[in-house]
Amino acid sequence: MASERSPLLSSQDRPDVEAARKSGRFSRLRELALFVWALIATATVIILAVCIQHNQTTQPRQHVPAAKRNLVFMVSDGMGPTSLSMTRSFRQHTQDLPIDNVLVLDQHFWGSSRTRSSNSLVTDSAAGATAFSCGKKSYNGAIGVLPDLEPCGTVLEAAKRIGYLTGLVATTRITDATPASFGSHVLVRSMEDSIALQEVGEGVLGRSVDLMLGGGRCFFLPNSTEGSCRSDDVDVVKIAQKNHNWAYSDDRAGFNALEGGEKAQLPLLGLYASHDIPFEIDRRNHNDIYPSLSEMAKTALRTLEKATENSEKGFFIMIEGSRIDHAAHYNDPAAQVHEVIEYDKTFQVVLDFIAQSKTETVLVSTSDHETGGLDTAIQIPGHDPVYNWYPKVLANATASAEWLAWKLRAHVASSDFSGNKDKLRTWINEELVIPGLGISDATDAELTRIVDNLSDSLHAFADMISLRAHIGWSTHGHTAVDVNIYSSGGPGTDKIRGNIENTEIGDFMGAYLEVDINEITEELREKTAKPNAEAVAAVQAASVNDIHHLAW
Ligand SMILES: *[C@@H]1O[C@H](CO)[C@@H](O)[C@H](O)[C@H]1NC(C)=O
Ligand SMILES: *[C@@H]1O[C@H](CO)[C@@H](O)[C@H](O)[C@H]1NC(C)=O
Ligand SMILES: *[C@@H]1O[C@H](CO)[C@@H](O)[C@H](O)[C@H]1NC(C)=O
Ligand SMILES: [Zn+2]
Repeated sequence: MASERSPLLSSQDRPDVEAARKSGRFSRLRELALFVWALIATATVIILAVCIQHNQTTQPRQHVPAAKRNLVFMVSDGMGPTSLSMTRSFRQHTQDLPIDNVLVLDQHFWGSSRTRSSNSLVTDSAAGATAFSCGKKSYNGAIGVLPDLEPCGTVLEAAKRIGYLTGLVATTRITDATPASFGSHVLVRSMEDSIALQEVGEGVLGRSVDLMLGGGRCFFLPNSTEGSCRSDDVDVVKIAQKNHNWAYSDDRAGFNALEGGEKAQLPLLGLYASHDIPFEIDRRNHNDIYPSLSEMAKTALRTLEKATENSEKGFFIMIEGSRIDHAAHYNDPAAQVHEVIEYDKTFQVVLDFIAQSKTETVLVSTSDHETGGLDTAIQIPGHDPVYNWYPKVLANATASAEWLAWKLRAHVASSDFSGNKDKLRTWINEELVIPGLGISDATDAELTRIVDNLSDSLHAFADMISLRAHIGWSTHGHTAVDVNIYSSGGPGTDKIRGNIENTEIGDFMGAYLEVDINEITEELREKTAKPNAEAVAAVQAASVNDIHHLAW
């Protein structure tokens, strides 16, 4: 049994067991223990057999199996109420729409969610997603584990156990906090090497996920390969294919070959970016390389629908608009509006799926937290407040601040760069600021800030556009703002009306799918080694000072 136990923190030696094995006394003791165990086991089997027979003859069947149903859970990472207001006005401006023309999400507003974690009023995405997946509060950084540092069963694992098919779709790394919290268990979110292995089926429960589409390919490649970001030489793609039968694709051609799900085979692993899929504002210009969130969602839904056509159970899928959060971390409003529009489009894709599906399907969408302290108005120091903000500034941008910062880095590293600061300043203005940000009145101070500190260019670009649009930000991190819940409605969704705790979303999902999460928790805890002192110290160190540099 000991060999089946797997630690939450990377692979550790088990010196206690090793030492005992070497001693002869251990083997004599073991013989005796085995004999006693055999006796007890035999007695138990006889007693159980009698009990079961008794039950069968005297008890009526209590549990009526659930009707076939699907659950689509969408997560808009980092999207607060202001993101909706900003995107709604942006869309009305760019498409010349009337005031009452609102987002699809606006038409499915359901309630709001309180987001604090177990150890902070401001959550990160790991604790946020664990609240959804396990229905329990945990500490910032926790991936499918509770404050006692032991794993909790997830709604995805419990659904898989009783015959549902399961899927995860994201625009960031599929090993990042939100998807990870459904299909793996680690003490701190940065353990993405371990998360990748667990997600393909190397965890103590075996394989629970049937479909994964997104980014994060680098965590699936051995460190001997170009494009790997693993710290070891484990080839996760190979393990996935050989040990667990995953079909794998890693480029646009591979995605297209799925033919929208008609030609897809499960289990299906599609990793279409080394790290993140570019922001939608940039991706749309590189559509030949990267699929969009709505395309991946549509393909995933059709794949799972086809695969469950003849089964008693439907499917559970989590679809994340992962990079709404990233745009907010950068304080880049132009990147964010395009992320939210793509998320809104994906919500419509799911509604269309529900309308044509023969199987009862519920869609629930919410955010794990707000990011950025976003505001649609600012007061510039020394000036009166202005009662307006300007979508036309965002509409003029053709690239994200992130993309422009990449281009700048590439230019400085290339032979085109002479080292001349004045020339560089002109190049930045003419090649990046005017065509990319759509800003033709950059000031000397703004351009000097970039030239003097190239590593700060991303924030500098984002600040230039925010200021002109009168978009405000209070932080490059997360906030405690309540976030909205959206739903298609359907059985049981009245439970998530009004203002609720984020864990109640998890409770709802478990109840809707009629799964037993506690049973999975027990099994996980039995099979997982207790964290050692080193692991506990790592968790404590990560939560020191409430600073989460990597905790997006
Ligand atoms: C690659 O992985 C091997 C084995 O896990 C390890 O010994 C080595 O240090 C790693 N190399 C790098 C550059 O990380
Ligand atoms: C939009 O960008 C163009 C350059 O691409 C510029 O000429 C124009 O002034 C900009 N408009 C606004 C409102 O910033
Ligand atoms: C340059 O920008 C980086 C990133 O924002 C910052 O950490 C650093 O302190 C800045 N350096 C200077 C000299 O201002
Ligand atoms: Zn974040």
